[in-house]
Amino acid sequence: MTGFPKDFVWGTSTSAFQIEGAWLEGGKGLSVWDVFTHIPEKILNNDLAEVACDHYHRYKEDIKLLKDIGVNAYRLSISWPRILPMGYGEKNKEGITFYSKIIDLLLENNITPWLTLHHWDLPAALQFEKDGWLNEKMADYFADYARVCFEEYGDRVKNWITLNEPWVTSMLGYGKGEFAPGRVSITEPYIAAHNLLRAHGKAAKIYHEEFQPTQNGIIGMANNCDWREPKTDSMEDIEAAERALEFFLGWFADPLYKGEYPKTMHERVGDRLPDFTKEDIDLIKGSCDYFGLNHYTTMYAENAEEKTVEVDPHANGAIFEDEHVQLSSDETWEKTTMDWNVVPWGLKKLLHWIDERYDHPTIYVTENGAAFEDKVVDGKVHDDKRINYLESYTSEVAKAIEDGIKINGYFVWSLLDNFEWALGYTQRFGLYYVNYKTLERIPKDSAAWYHNLIKKNLE
Ligand code: GAL
Repeated sequence: MTGFPKDFVWGTSTSAFQIEGAWLEGGKGLSVWDVFTHIPEKILNNDLAEVACDHYHRYKEDIKLLKDIGVNAYRLSISWPRILPMGYGEKNKEGITFYSKIIDLLLENNITPWLTLHHWDLPAALQFEKDGWLNEKMADYFADYARVCFEEYGDRVKNWITLNEPWVTSMLGYGKGEFAPGRVSITEPYIAAHNLLRAHGKAAKIYHEEFQPTQNGIIGMANNCDWREPKTDSMEDIEAAERALEFFLGWFADPLYKGEYPKTMHERVGDRLPDFTKEDIDLIKGSCDYFGLNHYTTMYAENAEEKTVEVDPHANGAIFEDEHVQLSSDETWEKTTMDWNVVPWGLKKLLHWIDERYDHPTIYVTENGAAFEDKVVDGKVHDDKRINYLESYTSEVAKAIEDGIKINGYFVWSLLDNFEWALGYTQRFGLYYVNYKTLERIPKDSAAWYHNLIKKNLE
């Protein structure tokens, strides 16, 4: 494969809640995910992340795995309640030291750390006391937390991601109730999203004004988006696919790059969509130094105007009803065990869409990967399907680079099999298989494949 520049960033991603465990250790406070996972029936098999991959105790072993693969970057997230057990106020020294040790060890191994500040594990105290992301003051709490991280780690960390997938927090956490904090509403997703954007804006301003001039790093957001391919070439379906992308990615990226929500969202959501103040826009517009994209799959989109369901606040999140798009799959598309379609060309189309709509930003693919059932045979996992997935998706990244799109890096989700949110331990994404009984890491063929891909491209 050609197309990757020599200084391309090759990484893997993880998040604190999904791998760390040690949920009551080291002075850590509780997060909304600690609480949510302990509510019966919220998580498949009632799985818990109390231990997860035990990364808290085995981080040295895990950094060695990163070294073996040969990545030059590693994206991890900080558990906010490990640093600030209440979410605000007193700092937890032990927690601060934990990430400091990881950062130092990564740098010793020539692996560049990318730090995500919010990968969904909001401190539970902020949820119970302050209503979580529904409270506009959350932006200030987040900004204070971000400042602690810039102060403690910014001398060594040069790549910051404020939020991971605010679409998921808003839609699944406040709309459909499938993720923490488990709320079901047709208005709250839009309020949560608004406050997440404001929180990002405040943190980015602090970084740009007070830290970037001396620390010289970059800051941005990791947004998730699938590709939406028009089901037919009718104008209605073409518009439906565009609308679906606007409700998905435009919801967050338009404010960041254009200073407003997409027009179609205003039209369809009406006064449930909050307004930005002039001060908000000044904070949010132009606040990203790069475009972070998490991408996994593609669906067909068709107009569903007449199939509109009555918006029922107790049944579903609003967005699907508001956007009036019917999604479907193609029978010929391969599927992962999460039922996600494997459609590599969707990634290239999405990269073009971003490039055009947001005026050629520098893009990093901050997550991409696939869950397949892995079987251990003679101490190894032969995961051909994952290799095919990664090979075909990275090829599309290479093609997009050849088309002139500025893509500077790619991170596989994930380094390790880990706690897959509401699906517990049933979905395996990692380059290393984790046996949850013994917590042993077992290499998969895809780890060796990724190693070779990186080697070839960095030589
Ligand atoms: C993303 C998320 C990750 C991981 C992945 C696979 O949405 O950021 O934490 O779970 O999906 O489902």
